[in-house]
Amino acid sequence: MALPSSILAGLLLFALPNLSNAQTDNGNECSCFRTNGSSRGYFTYHRFLDYRNVANSATPPTLISNATNATNALATSDFFIQDAWKNDWTIQNWNNSDSIATSGAAVTMINSPNNVYIEKSTDSDPSYTSYLVLRTSRLPTFQSAAEIDSNEKNYHYLSARFNARVIGSPGACAGLFTYLASDNPQSIQEADIEILTAGPRNAVQYTNQPSNDAAGNDIPQATVNSSMGQDWTVWNTYRVDWMPKMTSWYVNGESVANISFQTPRDPAGLILNMWSDGGVWTGNMTTYDEAYLQIQWMELVFNTSGAYGGSRKRDEHGAVGVLEKRKGGTPGCKVVCGVDEKVNVTGTPAVLYNSTAPVGWRGEGMGGMAWIPLVVAGAAIFGYF
Ligand SMILES: *[C@@H]1O[C@H](CO)[C@@H](O)[C@H](O)[C@H]1NC(C)=O
Ligand SMILES: *[C@@H]1O[C@H](CO)[C@@H](O)[C@H](O)[C@H]1NC(C)=O
Ligand SMILES: *[C@@H]1O[C@H](CO)[C@@H](O)[C@H](O)[C@H]1NC(C)=O
Ligand SMILES: *[C@@H]1O[C@H](CO)[C@@H](O)[C@H](O)[C@H]1NC(C)=O
Ligand SMILES: *[C@@H]1O[C@H](CO)[C@@H](O)[C@H](O)[C@H]1NC(C)=O
Ligand SMILES: *[C@@H]1O[C@H](CO)[C@@H](O)[C@H](O)[C@H]1NC(C)=O
Ligand SMILES: *[C@@H]1O[C@H](CO)[C@@H](O)[C@H](O)[C@H]1NC(C)=O
Ligand SMILES: *[C@@H]1O[C@H](CO)[C@@H](O)[C@H](O)[C@H]1NC(C)=O
Ligand SMILES: *[C@@H]1O[C@H](CO)[C@@H](O)[C@H](O)[C@H]1NC(C)=O
Ligand SMILES: *[C@@H]1O[C@H](CO)[C@@H](O)[C@H](O)[C@H]1NC(C)=O
Repeated sequence: MALPSSILAGLLLFALPNLSNAQTDNGNECSCFRTNGSSRGYFTYHRFLDYRNVANSATPPTLISNATNATNALATSDFFIQDAWKNDWTIQNWNNSDSIATSGAAVTMINSPNNVYIEKSTDSDPSYTSYLVLRTSRLPTFQSAAEIDSNEKNYHYLSARFNARVIGSPGACAGLFTYLASDNPQSIQEADIEILTAGPRNAVQYTNQPSNDAAGNDIPQATVNSSMGQDWTVWNTYRVDWMPKMTSWYVNGESVANISFQTPRDPAGLILNMWSDGGVWTGNMTTYDEAYLQIQWMELVFNTSGAYGGSRKRDEHGAVGVLEKRKGGTPGCKVVCGVDEKVNVTGTPAVLYNSTAPVGWRGEGMGGMAWIPLVVAGAAIFGYF
C-alpha cells in the first residue's frame, strides 16, 4: 500500500480497529481498484458484503401485524447486531404518515426491522446456503416494508454491484440507489435501479432522480425503462457506475443504460428497499401478499468525500487519525487491482499491475494520488470533533 503499513496499523489499532478491512476487503495488498467498461475508473476503497453462507440462517420471521410493534421490532437475528453489519448499514423503521397526504400514497407504509432477515436457502444451488432478504407485505391496516441505509453518506462516485433477485406479488418496488436527501423534492440526487413487481419480468427502470419536475410532469431524459436485462426473478448482477459526468448501468456485465442528464453531483449514501404505498408508481399489493428483494452479495468500489465514514460515529467520539490526500508527489497506485478483469473469485480483486509507474495509470489521472497519515493529537484543529 502507498500508506506505510506500520503507521497504518498503529493508527488503526489505536482508534479504528476495523477500518483497514472496511476499506479494502479482500484487497489489502491493492493500492487502488479498477473497473471495466465504458464507465471504467479507479477507486480507493473496496467492500465485499457476502450473505451467501451466514451461520444460523433461518426461515422468514413471522409477520408483525401491529403497526407499533412492527416499528419497534428487534433485529431478526444476531447477524444484524454485530459490528460487521452495523458498521455498514442502519435498518430503518420510519413510516410515511407525514407525507401520505401529499405524496400520492394510498396506503400507510411502515418500515420494519422485522422485514430484514437472513433466509436459509432452499434452492438447489450449493454455492450459497443463505441470502439477505428485504420483505414487503400488505397487511390489513398497513403495508409493512423494508429499508436499509448505508452509514457511509459520503460516497463520491462509486461502482456498486448487487447480486440480487426479486420475487413475489405485484404492487411492490425493489430499489437499489444512491441517495442525497433534500427537503426540496427537486433537489434530491439519486442514481436508481428500480424493479416493479407489477411490471414485465424483464423491465428494470434506471434513473437519475428527480424524474418529475415541480409540476409533476415526467422528465424523460432522467430515466431509462430497459428491457435488456434478464428475468429479474432469477439471480442477476446489477451494476451501477456513478461517475462524475454520467451514470451507467450494467446487468451481468452488459451495458443496459447510460444517463448523463442530471448525474448526481454531491456526496451521497446508498439505500436498498422493498416497498409499496398504493401510489401510481408501485400500485397496490393485494392484502396478505408479499414480495422480496433477495441479495447474495454486494461489491462496492468507491471514493469518499473526506475520511471513510462507515465508522463515522466512532470517529466523532474520539478519532485521532485522518488520512489526507496529497496532490502531486510520489506516484500513488503501485498495485492496481481489477474488480472485473481477471477476477477468479467473486469479491476478490485481481492484481493487474504491480510497479511504481504502471502503464495506463498516470495517463488516467491517478499519478498524483498518495496518502499521508496524519496522526493528530489535537484533531480538533481539523474540525473533526
Ligand atoms: C508487488 O511487488 C512487490 C515487489 O516485487 C512485492 O513485494 C509485493 O508482494 C507485490 N504485491 C503484490 C500484491 O503482488
Ligand atoms: C467486465 O469484465 C467482466 C469479466 O471479464 C466481463 O464479464 C464483463 O462483460 C466486462 N464488462 C464490460 C462492460 O466490459
Ligand atoms: C405487540 O407487542 C406487545 C408487547 O410489547 C404484545 O403484548 C402484543 O401482543 C403485540 N401485538 C401484536 C399484535 O403482536
Ligand atoms: C398495537 O400494540 C400496541 C402495544 O401493545 C397497542 O397499544 C396497540 O393498541 C396495538 N394496536 C392495535 C391496532 O391493535
Ligand atoms: C409514524 O411515525 C410517527 C413518528 O415517528 C409516529 O408518531 C406515528 O405513530 C407512526 N405512525 C404509525 C401508523 O405507526
Ligand atoms: C416499462 O416498459 C414496459 C414495456 O416494455 C411497460 O410494460 C412498463 O409499464 C414500463 N414501466 C414503466 C415503469 O414505465
Ligand atoms: C453506453 O455507452 C457506451 C459508451 O458509449 C456504449 O458502448 C453502450 O452501448 C451504451 N449503452 C447503452 C445501453 O446505450
Ligand atoms: C390503491 O387502493 C386505494 C384504495 O385502497 C386506492 O385509493 C388507490 O387509488 C389504489 N392505487 C392505485 C394505483 O390504483
Ligand atoms: C485465475 O485463474 C487462472 C487459471 O487458473 C490463473 O492462471 C490466474 O493466475 C488466476 N488469476 C488470478 C488473478 O488469480
Ligand atoms: C478516486 O480517487 C482517486 C484518488 O484521488 C482518483 O485518482 C480517481 O480518479 C477517483 N475516481 C473517481 C471515479 O473519481
